[in-house]
Amino acid sequence: MENQTQITQLVQRAQEALQKAENLKELDTLRINLLGKKGELTGLLRGMGQLSPEERPAFGQMVNQAREKIESMMAGREKELKASELEARLVKEAIDVTLPTDLPRLGNPHPITQVLDSVVECFIGMGFQVVEGPEIELDKYNFELLNIPKNHPARDAQDTFYIDENIVLRTHTSPVQARVMAAQKPPIRVICPGRVFRADEVDATHSPVFHQIEGLVIDKDVTMADLRGTLGAFARQLYGEGITTRFRPSFFPFTEPSTEVDLTCFVCKGKGCRVCKGTGWIEVLGGGMVNPKVLSANGIDPKVYSGFAFGVGLERITLLRYGISDMRWLYEGDERFLRQFS
Ligand code: DAH
Repeated sequence: MENQTQITQLVQRAQEALQKAENLKELDTLRINLLGKKGELTGLLRGMGQLSPEERPAFGQMVNQAREKIESMMAGREKELKASELEARLVKEAIDVTLPTDLPRLGNPHPITQVLDSVVECFIGMGFQVVEGPEIELDKYNFELLNIPKNHPARDAQDTFYIDENIVLRTHTSPVQARVMAAQKPPIRVICPGRVFRADEVDATHSPVFHQIEGLVIDKDVTMADLRGTLGAFARQLYGEGITTRFRPSFFPFTEPSTEVDLTCFVCKGKGCRVCKGTGWIEVLGGGMVNPKVLSANGIDPKVYSGFAFGVGLERITLLRYGISDMRWLYEGDERFLRQFS
């Protein structure tokens, strides 16, 4: 009877201890203490020697039942502990997808580059080739071959950065015209984007370094109507349907006749507003029919061929396109400004 009580008590203690076990490690320790070779249950079995032979089978049976009971309680507790340890790990390792990341922000092309890209795309669509020329240019290409004579005011050192008597920082992209004419036979259809330089003070509309895009078409029977059609397509592509061109007479040494080209104000669509100063038009470029003197100076027979040319200020059309009021924003590299063009 005493033995039976001992066993019952052991089972009860085991049950309490199992409930108290907080993790699998504690459970393992309990397993060793209760069921191991030197554990309490084994201890009880050892005591069996003191029993009479008649008592032994019943006692043995009770110990086995106790072992089974404890083992099954232990398995139950083990299951519970495993589940709660998994739960705790999931909670601990959970990823909060709403937390801000420290990934670098993607940049975007500069607004000037974006406008240049769309201009280039437009002209490529019309069959133009893109050609570039040097920024440090011979006086010959920058002036002479474009019919800009020695005494022309554009050659004044106040406008032009001279490196020496014969070498300048190009003041416009027009010298690429002369280089193209020297390098290829008509038909010629090119645009020439690039950086140009003039000795100007920095202000809202001037910079000593800026960009132009030159256009040149030379073929048989090219007329002013082709210039109009080409620039009209360019205007619509860049600023949208309904935008047309207006040609006003002008003067450039390398074109004859020459024209200033206005576009319908794309803010008011021609009604008149602050941007176009009430006129409905915005001046954006210069152009004309290539001066026959320029053709022959560059080895092209003006009796056989004719052509048109134009030059656009890239900064100007960028400012207009985005409604930017000060050119300096384009060069300051202020990320808060640049980010707006992504
Ligand atoms: N080169 C001129 C300038 O810098 C722009 C220009 C005007 C280019 C008329 C041309 C043109 O090709 O035909 O102001």
